[in-house]
Amino acid sequence: MMERPKVTVVGAGNVGGTTAQRLAEKNLYDVVLVDIVQGVPQGKALDISQAGPVCGYSTMVVGTNDYVQTAGSSIAVITSGIPRKPGMSRDELLATNAKIVKSVVMELVSRSPDIVLILVTNPLDAMVHVARSVTGLPKSRIIGMAGVLDSARMRTFIAAELNVRATEVQAMVLGGHGDTMVPLPRYTTVRGRPVSELMSKEKLDAIVKRTRDGGAEIVGLLKTGSAFYAPSASAVAMVESILKDEKQVMPCAVLCEGEYGLKNVVVGVPVKIGRGGAEQIVEYELTNDERAALETSADAVRELCRTVDRLMA
Ligand code: LAC
Repeated sequence: MMERPKVTVVGAGNVGGTTAQRLAEKNLYDVVLVDIVQGVPQGKALDISQAGPVCGYSTMVVGTNDYVQTAGSSIAVITSGIPRKPGMSRDELLATNAKIVKSVVMELVSRSPDIVLILVTNPLDAMVHVARSVTGLPKSRIIGMAGVLDSARMRTFIAAELNVRATEVQAMVLGGHGDTMVPLPRYTTVRGRPVSELMSKEKLDAIVKRTRDGGAEIVGLLKTGSAFYAPSASAVAMVESILKDEKQVMPCAVLCEGEYGLKNVVVGVPVKIGRGGAEQIVEYELTNDERAALETSADAVRELCRTVDRLMA
């Protein structure tokens, strides 16, 4: 049998477990699920593997507390950390999750020097910054998952409003994965038509707001934990664009070094995702207002990164 690329999922909670499940179902990858909690990654790995004969895949997921088994991973999806409680902002998770992400990325990179890291842990943009400063990996190999999820939420809301299939809606949400995120209605189309031609400004504004608050809406409903079906689906779409070298342009959190006029800050921008990871930031033309919104969002991320740098010093 041909050797399959190894994908490690760190964190066996809802996002991590569902990510491992989705990856196993592809039947193309070796999947390792790691967590510090004894028994949970092992139990979920067994359970996912045992669904294989029923669903038609043969992936044997490895569940472990030991990073030794992650050696040689092509990609790691990092989901570990604490989630929000109702009423909390993602930023309130900063101190706790920064420590967790720091130790996780060091464990991973020491055993898989060519790895691409996909961060899911919040606050997302700051966690990408932490992973970069700790590992020194090139910026192409540290990517945050947020824009795919935020865009998927916007697509879903638009589809429901217009009674079309969500797959026929394209949307682009840039900026930090927080209250300042920047949905771009101008780059949002339905069967190729600009969304602004299809609904009133009020309706569109309401959808933009609901997209920004999309994570909090689910936290408020679930009460114990945050979203995981759409986040895991989004992370797996990024994994596949890398391993199949699809070169899809996806909104992702990466380090900008002058693109969009943003210097030395991690923020969500359109990125070509292929074998090399974040291969190229694609620069869309933005209006002055859109650019200003992106700058405001980048400033919020900068502030958070300064705080985390102080905490980690
Ligand atoms: C959300 C979390 C994953 O937006 O940030 O649901």
